[in-house]
Amino acid sequence: MDKNFYITTPIYYPSGKPHMGHAYSSIVADIFARFKRLENYNVLFLTGTDEHGQKIEKEAKKNNKDPKQFCDEISETFRSLTKILNLSNDDFIRTTEKRHHNSVIEIWNRLIKSGDIYLDKYSGWYSVSDEAFYDEDEIEDNNGKKISKSSGSAVEWVEEESYFFKLSAWSKKLLEFYKKNPNFILPESRKNEVVKFVEKGLKDLSISRTSFTWGIPVPKDKNHVIYVWLDALTNYISALNFPNTEDVKYKNFWPADVHIIGKDILRFHAVFWPAFLLAANLPLPKRIFGHGWILSDDKKMSKSLGNILDPLEIINKYGIDQLRYYLVKEVSLGNDGSISLENLKNCINNDLANNYGNLCQRVFSFIKKNCDNKIPSNPKLNDTDQKFLDNLKKSVPKLISLMNNQELNEYIKTVVKFSFDANKYFNDSEPWIVKKKNPERMNAILFTIVEQIKNISILLNPIIPNATNKVLTMINIVGKNISIDKIKDHNILKSNKELGNLEILFTKIEHDN
Ligand code: MSP
Repeated sequence: MDKNFYITTPIYYPSGKPHMGHAYSSIVADIFARFKRLENYNVLFLTGTDEHGQKIEKEAKKNNKDPKQFCDEISETFRSLTKILNLSNDDFIRTTEKRHHNSVIEIWNRLIKSGDIYLDKYSGWYSVSDEAFYDEDEIEDNNGKKISKSSGSAVEWVEEESYFFKLSAWSKKLLEFYKKNPNFILPESRKNEVVKFVEKGLKDLSISRTSFTWGIPVPKDKNHVIYVWLDALTNYISALNFPNTEDVKYKNFWPADVHIIGKDILRFHAVFWPAFLLAANLPLPKRIFGHGWILSDDKKMSKSLGNILDPLEIINKYGIDQLRYYLVKEVSLGNDGSISLENLKNCINNDLANNYGNLCQRVFSFIKKNCDNKIPSNPKLNDTDQKFLDNLKKSVPKLISLMNNQELNEYIKTVVKFSFDANKYFNDSEPWIVKKKNPERMNAILFTIVEQIKNISILLNPIIPNATNKVLTMINIVGKNISIDKIKDHNILKSNKELGNLEILFTKIEHDN
C-alpha cells in the first residue's frame, strides 16, 4: 500500500504584510512535510490564502481596491513568501478559486440535506478582525470599547438574519470522538481546553452573513454569503478535488494526517470543523496540532511596542536556514515562545556556525588537503568508530517517533547532540597525528566522520534544507538517497568520487551586526 501523508497550514488572510507568526506556522508544517518525504511517504503539503469575509472586504475598501483585485495582489505576496521561507508546499489554494467554490457549495448542500441548517436571526458580538462570534462572557470592556477577552480584538454588536448550523446537536458526538481519539488534539493542554469548552454545551453557530457581500453566496438565497470560517475550513478538502470523493487525490489524502495551526484558531479547527464534517458525513482529520504564540521579548509583537521582528528583514540579513532553525529550536512547539535578535545571533553562532558548520568545514578541508579531495574507500573501522556510528543509527526509530508526535524540540536537541559528539570524535581521533604513522587509521577516521556528517545532514535536512543539501550534494548524496533509510547504508559513500568545493555554510555573526 502507498504511504500517503497530508499536512496543512492555516491558509492566510491576505490582509497585510506577512509576519513572524505566519512564518512560524508555515516553517513548522514544512519541517514535518519534509521529514515524511525522507521517510519515503507520498506527501501532500498544502498552504494558501483565505480571501473572503468582512475583514478582507474592509481592508480592500481601505486600499480603494475591488476585493478580488486586492486579493490577487496580496495573495501573490503570500505565494512568494512560500519561496522565501523555502517551503516545499505541493499546492497553494486560494479560496476565490472555482475548485474551492464547488467544494463549499457541496458542504453547504450536505448540511442542508442532513437537516443541520435553519434560518433565524443573529444578535450578538462579532469581531471582524478574528472573524468570530463571541458570547457576552467572552468579551470585556477596555476604556469604553468592547473587546474579546481571548484575542483583545474589538467586537461590534451585530443583528441580522442568519442561517445557523445546529452545532449544539453535535456536542455529545464530539466529546465521544475526542475520547476515542486521545491524540486528535495536541498538545494535551489544548485538548483539555477544547474538551472543557464543549462540555459546557455548544450553542448553534451562525454560518451566514447579510451585511456585506464579499463571500460565497448561499445557494438559493443570494442575500446571504457563507460565513468565512465554514468557507475557509473547507479548503482542506477543496484541494483534494472534493466533491469528487472518487478522485485519487481525495482517496489518497483524506482524512488529513495533521492540520498545523496556531492556538488562536483552535476552536474553529477542533470544534467547528469536525462538527461540519460529522454532519456532512465525511471522515475527520487525524490530528489538529495547535502551536503557541511567538512573542518578542516576552510580549506580543506590536507596532506601538516597537518590538516587531520582520521575518523578511531577518532572512535578508541572516539567511533562511538560520531563521528556520532558530524559530523551531528556540520556541518549544505547543507553548508560547519569546524570540529576540540577540538570541538569534547566539543560536546561529553556537549551533550552526560553531557546531554543524564547523564540523563540515574542518572535515572537508582536511580531506581536501590530505586525501586528494576524495573520501577514503575500503576503510577498516575499529570498535570506537563502529560504536560512534551505531549510537546514531540506534536512535533512528526514536527520532522518527518524535517527529510523528510533533516533538520537534526533542528531535532537534538529539540531532544537535550528535553533531556536537561528531566534533568531539574528530578532535579525539586526531587524524592529523595518525596520518603519518598510520594512514589506514586516518582513512577509517575520515570515512567514519563523513558517514556521520551524511547521517546528521539527512536528519537536519527538513530543518535547514539549503545548508544540508550543499553538504549532501558535495558527497554525492542527492534525490532519493536523501532518505532516512540511507542512514543505515554505509555503501552509498563508497563511490570514491572527487568531492566538490564546500563554501562557508554559516558565517559567524558579530554582536554589533
Ligand atoms: N485565515 C485564518 C486561518 C484559516 S485556516 C482554515 C487565519 N489566518 S492568519 O493569517 O491570521 O493566521 C495564520 C496563522 O498564523 C495561524 O495559525 C495563526 O495562529 C498564526 N499566527 C499569527 N500570529 C501568530 C504569532 N504571533 N505567533 C504564532 N503564530 C501566530 O487565522
